[in-house]
Amino acid sequence: MTFQQLWAETQPVGRADRWGGYHRILGSSAELELREWFVGAAASRGMHVEVDRAGNHWAWLGDPDAARDRGQRPLVVGSHLDSVPGGGAFDGALGVVSAFAAIDQLTDEGQMPAAPVAVVSFAEEEGSRFGITCLGSRVLMGSLPREEALALRDPDGVTMAEALRASGADPDAFGPDPEATARIGTYVELHIEQGRGLADLDRPVAVGSAIRPYGRWRLVLQGEGNHAGTTRMVDRQDPMLVLAEVVRRTCEAALARDCVATIGKLHVDPNAANAIPARVTAWLDARGPDEALVHEVAAEVAAIEGVDSVQDFFTSRESFDGPLAESLAELLDDAPVLESGAGHDAGTMAAAGVPSAMLFVRNPTGVSHSPQEHADEADCVEGVRALAQVIRQVAS
Ligand code: GLV
Ligand code: MN
Ligand code: MN
Ligand code: MN
Repeated sequence: MTFQQLWAETQPVGRADRWGGYHRILGSSAELELREWFVGAAASRGMHVEVDRAGNHWAWLGDPDAARDRGQRPLVVGSHLDSVPGGGAFDGALGVVSAFAAIDQLTDEGQMPAAPVAVVSFAEEEGSRFGITCLGSRVLMGSLPREEALALRDPDGVTMAEALRASGADPDAFGPDPEATARIGTYVELHIEQGRGLADLDRPVAVGSAIRPYGRWRLVLQGEGNHAGTTRMVDRQDPMLVLAEVVRRTCEAALARDCVATIGKLHVDPNAANAIPARVTAWLDARGPDEALVHEVAAEVAAIEGVDSVQDFFTSRESFDGPLAESLAELLDDAPVLESGAGHDAGTMAAAGVPSAMLFVRNPTGVSHSPQEHADEADCVEGVRALAQVIRQVAS
């Protein structure tokens, strides 16, 4: 099938909110529908579907175990199918759709390498339900201990273990999967660019060099819940005042260090218009060129009076395979090489020692994690062509 045909199948799924945003949250009907689409797409191409112990979906063309016995290390391409709440259509899905489209293109041209190739769809890449990004790949590779993952809670208080049980999966079987990881020779992830790098360079496709350090902190601001009409202003302990300070200092601390930092999610207890909040929980997402600087931003915010800060996760700089990136850039007409400010499963792979690379497709709006995220069809087709070239070079 062409890219356009495949895209038309996935694009409507999970387009849910009145702002035009996509909701493809782990375990939601949209996410389950896309997983079914993935299984169907694999089956119609004669690919063998497996779900690893961390809940990631694999579609294998050829037999990876026989290949390994012959000393071959198969190529895996793909991305993720989940989204942030209110996200764009392309983040994740573009990589999975492009992987199938590239395989179809090579097959139609009689150029598909004989060596096994897999398409992977990683679970909970956005961490939108359980709060840790790249959850599926982190658990798979053992960089997030299974006990920690099983104890994570979603916004309704449901633990990962309970969610697995409710979906018919066995939490005891959940965890790293050495058998699945031993099959990955090289991982290449195509993704929409989430900034303006390619638009500024006027090029359709780039190769990734690294993912910048990033971390997430949960800030609990304790106050005293009380009546909005009867409590004198001087008698209040209002955590919203602390929040205002947190937001201001987050921006200042990031600006001063060439970092980026965001307060993008809040829980207000009890969240009533006529009650002074008893407690506000705010999430700080901080990223930057250097680990120490990102930690400095988090420390400055944590030091504000009334803030109790807990680190949810921290991810060091993840550098992709240098020679691989160079060879792909050369293969793709001297494609530009860009660093990523966004996290990706390819980073988890690289950190675990898997030779990994990324391709980025131009996003003229430069916007992502928002309905305004966009890629022109011609650039998507160019991305598929690039990925097909990469498959042909790396898999054979
Ligand atoms: C998630 O992958 C992110 O970059 O926020
Ligand atoms: Mn994303
Ligand atoms: Mn993504
Ligand atoms: Mn991401």
